[in-house]
Amino acid sequence: MAHQHHHHGHGHGHGDGSDLAEILLLDAEVTAAHLAVFTGRIAELAGDTAVHRVVDLGSGTGTGAFALLRRFPGAVVTAVDTDEGMLRHLTESAARHGVADRIRPVHADADAGWPETGEADLVWASSSMHHMNDPDRVLADVHATLRPGGLLAMIEMESMPRFLPDDIGIGASGLEARCHALADAAKAEHLPHMGSDWPARLRAAGFTVLDSRDLVVDLAPPLPAPAVRYAVATLKRFRAGLAERLPAEDRETLDTLLAKDEHVLRHLPGLSVHSTRSAWIAARS
Ligand SMILES: C[S@@+](CC[C@H](N)C(=O)[O-])C[C@H]1O[C@@H](n2cnc3c(N)ncnc32)[C@H](O)[C@@H]1O
Repeated sequence: MAHQHHHHGHGHGHGDGSDLAEILLLDAEVTAAHLAVFTGRIAELAGDTAVHRVVDLGSGTGTGAFALLRRFPGAVVTAVDTDEGMLRHLTESAARHGVADRIRPVHADADAGWPETGEADLVWASSSMHHMNDPDRVLADVHATLRPGGLLAMIEMESMPRFLPDDIGIGASGLEARCHALADAAKAEHLPHMGSDWPARLRAAGFTVLDSRDLVVDLAPPLPAPAVRYAVATLKRFRAGLAERLPAEDRETLDTLLAKDEHVLRHLPGLSVHSTRSAWIAARS
């Protein structure tokens, strides 16, 4: 993902984009229970006010959109994404689940200005705000789009999920920690807003933060099949993204893990999932 061009740099249905779509679909399975609790909290905070007009900003394959359609039976979701491949995925899933009439895909770049969404009761932005070139401007647009008292639900990941024990029995110990250090350095350059003080930015944009929580996914071995696939897809993407930057020995270890349909990784004792995201619900005051 090239600097300032990250929103054009992946997707369109092949290579990197399909991998990301696959990861997002598996992520949806791994986080489903947490999202159900979180959307339940949104419903509590909305109280008696209707949640009909929803915008999913940076919808990806629609994890949030579908969770919200389930939670709010009267809602229609406008799903905004720069990536047409993602929107195609989402539209196909919507048709499969019989909710095509409740999803409106909008191909747009939120960095270029707010798309034509109309007034909204709820805006959802999950792992998308840190992709924006100017999140503060986008938050101001979200504020302007919400009706008075409308809600913004935002989820941000501070770091990538972890899967490997420190000593995996092949190569030098600490492989995953070294991968993360390299990925964090790349992120500091390309995604400078990741891990920033979002509550402060929300308040500066005129929101009142009503709810703050961590969504913690902690799956111990033996992992269910989707969690294994999630680990495999994420580590493959890591291997591809970090390629030349990884020390040779770590590259070899990762290749051993991923060889022959990821046989070694899939059967690795101690394969687990640890992922923490921060989530906020804020009101337009
Ligand atoms: C990490 S994915 C998260 C997808 C989804 N919200 C989820 O939680 O599974 C980030 C998404 O934001 C989209 N995105 C990135 N920059 C964007 C922009 N400037 N405008 C609209 N969408 C954007 C990407 O194409 C991608 O689908």
